Amino acid sequence: MAYDPSKPFNKLPPLPPKAEIETKTVLKKAIIASRALAELKGSITNLPNPTLLVDTINLQEARASSAIENIITTEDELFKASIVKKVENGITKEVIHYKDALWYGFDRLTKFPILNTNLFISIMQIIKENQSGIRKTPGTKLTNPVTNQVIYTPPEGEGIIRNKLAELENFIHANNDIDPLIKLALIHYQFEAIHPFSDGNGRTGRIIILLYLKFAGLMDLPSLYMSEYILNHKQDYYVGLRLVTEKGEWERWIMYILTMVEVTANKARRQIAQIEKLMSEMADGIQKKLPAKIYSKDLMEVLFKLPYTKRSFLIDAGIGNLKTVGVYLNELEKAGFLKSEFIGKEKLYLNTALMKLLKTPTIE
Ligand SMILES: Nc1ncnc2c1ncn2[C@@H]1O[C@H](COP(=O)(O)OP(=O)(O)O)[C@@H](O)[C@H]1O
Ligand SMILES: [Mg+2]
Repeated sequence: MAYDPSKPFNKLPPLPPKAEIETKTVLKKAIIASRALAELKGSITNLPNPTLLVDTINLQEARASSAIENIITTEDELFKASIVKKVENGITKEVIHYKDALWYGFDRLTKFPILNTNLFISIMQIIKENQSGIRKTPGTKLTNPVTNQVIYTPPEGEGIIRNKLAELENFIHANNDIDPLIKLALIHYQFEAIHPFSDGNGRTGRIIILLYLKFAGLMDLPSLYMSEYILNHKQDYYVGLRLVTEKGEWERWIMYILTMVEVTANKARRQIAQIEKLMSEMADGIQKKLPAKIYSKDLMEVLFKLPYTKRSFLIDAGIGNLKTVGVYLNELEKAGFLKSEFIGKEKLYLNTALMKLLKTPTIE
C-alpha cells in the first residue's frame, strides 16, 4: 500500500533499517567525516583552555537551530542577552533556553551516560519552558508552510510513541557494529519520525545529535555548530527526512548527515585556529600599548569567552576589584580593543575583532 502522509505513521519500522545502509559511498564518507571530527577533537584538546569557546559556539548553535524553526534572533542580540540579567525579548529568551537545555544534557550525560526518554523530555521542557510531555492527543502534523499540504503525520498514541522511543533507546545503547556517525544519521531520522512532542522536536533532536557524539566518545565538549549547516541546506534536510519515510532512501539521508559533520568539523577547526591567532595578536597588542599590569592570561580568557563581557566577569576571574577592572576596561576601550555599550543599566564591552571574526562566513 502506498504511503499516505496524512495518516499517522504508526508502522514506523524500528532501527536498524532492513535495507543495506553501509554502502561503499556511505562508508567512504563516514571515514572522511570521522577524520574531520577527530581532528577537531584534537585541536580543541590542544587549546590552552578547551572550554574557552564553548559558550560562544553553543550560542551560535542555539541561534541556528532555533532559526531552522523560524525562531529568529540576531547573533549580536543573543550574545548580549546571554550575559545581561534581564532579557525582554521572548524569542531571545527561547534561544537562551535552548543553550541551557544543551548544557543540561551534557551535564546529565556526564553523570549518567545514558540517552533515554526521560532525558529527551527534560530537554524539550527546558527549551519550551513548560511541563508538557509525550504527545497524548492526536492532531500533530507536519505541513508545508506555503501550501499547507500535509507532509508527514507522526505516530499517534502515547503508548505507541513510548514504545518507539524505548526501541530507539535500545538501539542507541546496543553494540550493533554500525559506524557511530552512520548510527547518528539513523538516530536523528528516527527521533524526528517519532516526533514525540507537540513542539520542540526539531530542536530536541538536534541537541540529541551533540549528546550522541559525546556518548559515542567522538566529542568531549559540545563544540560543534552543526545547525548552521542545516539552516543553509534546509530544503535538503526536509526532503531527506521525507524520502526515508516515503521511499526508504537511506543513503541520501546518511550522506547528508555525514557531510554535515565533515563540513561543520572542518569549519570549526578553521575558526578555532583563527580565534587562537586573534587572541595571541591581541595579547601582543595589549602588552605593547597598555601599562604592563593590565595584561594577564586570565584577562585574555575573559575577553574571548564570549564576544561581550562586563565588569563582574573580570572580578569573578580574580583580575581586580570593581574600581580596578573599571579602569582596565576603560583603557582597553580607549586603545581600541573593546567597545562599550549600555543595555539598560548594564555596561557591556564588545570584543569587536572577535565579533567580526564570528560573523565572517566561511565558504562551504
Ligand atoms: N518529513 C519529516 N519527517 C520527520 N520529521 C521532520 C520532517 N520534516 C521536518 N521534520 C522535523 O521536524 C522538526 C519540526 O518539528 P517541531 O516539533 O516544530 O520542532 P521545533 O519546535 O523544534 O521546530 C524539523 O526541524 C525537523 O527536524
Ligand atoms: Mg516548532
